Amino acid sequence: MIIREMRRLDIEAVSLIHKKTIPGPGSKIGKRFLIKFYNLLLSNPKDNISLVAELDGKIVGILVATRNYPNTKKLLNKIYSPEVFIDTLKAIFLGKLGIKELYNHYRFSSQFETKSLTFNPFIAILTLAVDKSFQRKGIGRQLLVRLIRDLSREKIKLIMVDTLLENQQALGFYNKMGFRSKFQLVDSWVLEKVVSSM
Ligand SMILES: CC(C)(COP(=O)(O)OP(=O)(O)OC[C@H]1O[C@@H](n2cnc3c(N)ncnc32)[C@H](O)[C@@H]1OP(=O)(O)O)[C@@H](O)C(=O)NCCC(=O)NCCS
Repeated sequence: MIIREMRRLDIEAVSLIHKKTIPGPGSKIGKRFLIKFYNLLLSNPKDNISLVAELDGKIVGILVATRNYPNTKKLLNKIYSPEVFIDTLKAIFLGKLGIKELYNHYRFSSQFETKSLTFNPFIAILTLAVDKSFQRKGIGRQLLVRLIRDLSREKIKLIMVDTLLENQQALGFYNKMGFRSKFQLVDSWVLEKVVSSM
């Protein structure tokens, strides 16, 4: 298995893993949203680190993190094209996506942005997922270790990540990887890890 930087050609496979594994509005709005999401993230490699785990030519895991949360949030606002707006309405009317869930998502990201202004320089994990058939084989750990290795050349020593309060799987993983809950915000835990402690 190799861990390498994500390429544009990976985006279909990456979006599929995201859709099938990560709970949240992006997965429910669907493929068109996710493809735009990863294209936008890849368009700014200065701020964003985008990695994939590849096994026998197949993408089995993904990790995207940003060094500049406010900038990336601004960049991601470009996602809202008429098609994505229609997909969002469709997901709501089909009962896949709750209005409260969507509202909580936006409340979270704007409150986190404000709160994060008081933190030390940090990198925020935006997505981390491993294909269901390949979970519990150490792939999530290897993606995180690679992120930490990449960060060792930079001044950033703090990694932050959020996960829904009920996502026991992710909480189990992050706790094992040495993350500690920092605070609860809207419907999520925000966890942190000081890099030198790995
Ligand atoms: C969280 C996730 C990325 C972990 O990836 P993974 O490759 O399965 O994790 P690893 O095999 O590297 O696990 C490393 C350690 O974390 C812990 N861990 C992993 N999954 C766990 C789970 N479901 N419950 C409890 N602990 C878990 C274990 O201690 C594990 O070591 P062990 O298998 O030797 O006991 C994966 O479960 C996933 O894709 N979840 C769905 C998407 C998601 O919720 N992402 C987070 C929000 S963005």
